This record gives sequence, C-alpha cells and structure tokens, in this order.
Amino acid sequence: MDKRPIGIFDSGLGGLSAVKAVLKYMPNENIVYFGDTQRVPYGSRSEQTIEAFAKEDISFLEKFDCKLIMAACGTVSSVAVNAAKQVEDRFIGVVKPSCKAAVQATKNGKIGVMATAASINSGAYTREIQNMDKDMVVEGVSCPVLVTLVENNWIDKDDYISREIIKRYSAPLLEKGVDTIILGCTHFPHLAPLIQSVVGDKITLIDSGYEAVMEAKRILEEKEMLNISGKGEARFFVSDKMQNFSGIAKTLLGMDISKKVEYKNITE
Ligand code: DGL
Repeated sequence: MDKRPIGIFDSGLGGLSAVKAVLKYMPNENIVYFGDTQRVPYGSRSEQTIEAFAKEDISFLEKFDCKLIMAACGTVSSVAVNAAKQVEDRFIGVVKPSCKAAVQATKNGKIGVMATAASINSGAYTREIQNMDKDMVVEGVSCPVLVTLVENNWIDKDDYISREIIKRYSAPLLEKGVDTIILGCTHFPHLAPLIQSVVGDKITLIDSGYEAVMEAKRILEEKEMLNISGKGEARFFVSDKMQNFSGIAKTLLGMDISKKVEYKNITE
C-alpha cells in the first residue's frame, strides 16, 4: 500500500471529470489537483507552448511526492510527449486508455473523436486507435468552443445554445456513421448528458477522464500501490484566483470544495 497522493492536472476545470472518478472508484486515495486557470485554454496553442506548460505543471505536482501523475487533459496527453518523460513510469495520460475503451466498444469499427484542435491536429488518437487495430476508421473533430461552455458552466441538458453548438460539431461524425465517440478532451464529459441527447442513445460515449482513472487503478493494483484504508483527502490548486472555480466545481463534482481550493502561481 502506498499512501502518497495521485497528482492530477489540467488546463482548468476539465480534469475534475477524472477527480470525480477517483472519488467514486478509489475513495481512499489522496489527490492533489492542479488546474492551470491562468493559462486555459491549452488546446489552441502550439506544441512548444503546451510542452512548456505541461513541464511546469508536472514539476509543481512533483513537489507533493506523487505516486502517479495524471495528465487529465487530452491536449497534454496528445502533444506533450517530452514533458511526460520527466516522470516516465509514474505518468499516465488519457489518450491510450480512452482509445482502448473505444476499440472495445465499437461494433462497426467507426470511431469519432471530439477534442481540442491541438489534440486532433497531433493525430494522437488516430495513431493510437490504428496501432491497436489498423482497420478502424477514425474521424476527428476539434471542438474548442465546448471548453468555453464548460468553463462557463453552460452544461445544462436543456441549454439551447449549447445544444446547437454540439449539433454542429457532432454532425460530421454522425455523417460518417460512427457508433462510438471519444470525448477526448476532459472538459467534455461534463457535457456528456447534453452530447448524448444530441447524438442519440445508439452512440457510445467514451469518457477520457474516467478511462484514465480506471487504467490508473489497474496499474496501482498491479503494483500493490493502491491506498486501501482511510478516507482520501483532496487538495485543489489553481493558478489564477478564479472567482467561479469552486462554484462550477460544485456543479461538476457535486460537492463543495471552496475551502480546499488554494491559489498558486507555479511560474514564480
Ligand atoms: N481539458 C483539456 C483537454 O483535455 C484542455 C482544454 C483546453 O485547455 O483547451 O484537452
């Protein structure tokens, strides 16, 4: 058993979809979360910038002696290959676990990916899926506006504007006949009920944050590093004093974390 925390980071609120899964499926684990709210979004930036940000995020989490560091961010997982090497055997991203789940879930071999521009342009999801099965057809669409919807809490299932935006983004995937869609940006699982109601019940949605957490659980179990006693504690750090972080986090996580959120400028 290893009581050291799991470090989880994202550009902002998106990685809370992974935190939610840890709280539910690994409730004994201690968590240190970092949301780079000062520099969100990452998904429209260059590879060099994303690498540099990811290196700083990882260095910050390393100060907590984390047993595992999770990039709960599709963009970092797709692009920041060198940053990941910093903590090689302790690093886990969301791309591989979600592609694995999608390959298992699809019945017609057609998989859609909704993610940020950087993730889609990197080709990481397509590469990973076709490495697992070269006959898979993969169609990706970059959906930057969905990040803004989540950061502003426009996630209500009946929100007319959000529905229209999702309709526009998902149309090319539905035209291609995909039966499975990877929500390849960790912000998007927070919109899952809305996305599901737009694309219909026949489409399987893959939650990248959840899949990464399930993979983390398997790894920790295998290494006998799972924390199996006591209630896990969670600490949350943000790089900008975002007024609404705790408020939106309350909607996303279903719990009040306002007393646990600390401000940290990691570039000082
Ligand atoms: N949640 C992130 C991702 O998974 C980043 C969104 C962004 O910052 O653009 O890609």
